[in-house]
Amino acid sequence: MDALYRRVFGNDAAEASRLRWEWQYRRNPNNPGGEPEIWIAREGPAIVGQYATMPVQLSVGGTQVQASWGMDVMVAPERQRQGLGEILFRTWDRNVGASLGLGLSESSYKLFQKLRWPDVGPLPCLVKPLTRRALRRPNWPVPVNRLVSALTLPVIKLVARTRPLGAEVRMLQRFDESFTELWNTLAPRFDLAVRRDAAYLNWKYVSAPHVRYSIAALRRDDRNVGYAVYRHLHEPRGRVTLLVDFLTDPDDQPGFSTLLRWIDREARQADSDKIRTFAMHAAFRRVLRRSGYFQVKSTVQFVTKVNGVDVHPAFYENTDCWHVTLGDSDQDR
Ligand SMILES: CC(C)(COP(=O)(O)OP(=O)(O)OC[C@H]1O[C@@H](n2cnc3c(N)ncnc32)[C@H](O)[C@@H]1OP(=O)(O)O)[C@@H](O)C(=O)NCCC(=O)NCCS
Repeated sequence: MDALYRRVFGNDAAEASRLRWEWQYRRNPNNPGGEPEIWIAREGPAIVGQYATMPVQLSVGGTQVQASWGMDVMVAPERQRQGLGEILFRTWDRNVGASLGLGLSESSYKLFQKLRWPDVGPLPCLVKPLTRRALRRPNWPVPVNRLVSALTLPVIKLVARTRPLGAEVRMLQRFDESFTELWNTLAPRFDLAVRRDAAYLNWKYVSAPHVRYSIAALRRDDRNVGYAVYRHLHEPRGRVTLLVDFLTDPDDQPGFSTLLRWIDREARQADSDKIRTFAMHAAFRRVLRRSGYFQVKSTVQFVTKVNGVDVHPAFYENTDCWHVTLGDSDQDR
């Protein structure tokens, strides 16, 4: 499988996958029967394809469904476009209560379309500029970049100004069981969302081997009522703070905006030029826009097919109450 992975995705991706493999596939707390959920296509002794998945509990209108994110699907180059991919996709789908795909390659997106998986993407991307460098484009000449910086500076200063926190925010090392209770209270508020209990959150954001996250908890009356997971990174165009995942009651506008103000401070302290996040839920996006975020073009495609409970075709048309973020699937790698 490793040799096939190298041939299809290249050496760098294969090395990165090896670093994550034990954690991503073996230590997932939602593995059915405690085993990784990976389908293999064989021809005699040779492995010619695989579909590796990330099992999750999915809340669909408050009902829990055993689902999985499809990822790392591949067919040997000389055997592509001969129907093996279709067999792998359908086998996976027949065995899960909901099949989910996020951030697809062109070939897999086309195959999902051909097989008529409901297409609900792309996952909206929002960016908040913090410095003049946030708007730089490498393909613009220096004088144009300077002019754009000068013209937009007043707006950026206004958007990026520091504002007081409206509630207590505390940094965490781990998620305790109160976050499972928080999830159980909030799950019915979402039409579709991955179950964010303490076991899942600790696996995903505390023990990931390839990135280090910061975690902030929103507190009210001595209780945890929300969280935000984020990290800072260097990109060729500057420093970025990624708001990877978050949760509050979607109606708790002051709560979510307090978390966003906390992220602003953290990003400024890390000298970030911008903050980037992905959010599907309309209420969260509204608060993000009011907090200085702008929606930009997203290339993160999202497909999903629910099998475990009956859903009406209209279910896939109104995704305003779906909670999906960059933390879902294995997007942040
Ligand atoms: C995605 C993948 C697993 C599909 O496997 P496959 O065996 O080629 O798929 P099938 O033969 O069953 O289906 C073929 C259909 O897939 C889509 N497809 C496959 N390769 C494609 C490509 N290079 N460009 C565009 N569409 C492609 C098309 O819809 C195609 O239908 P068509 O031949 O009628 O146009 C395979 O192309 C692959 O390994 N790609 C490289 C790795 C990759 O991108 N993985 C996805 C990570 S998200």
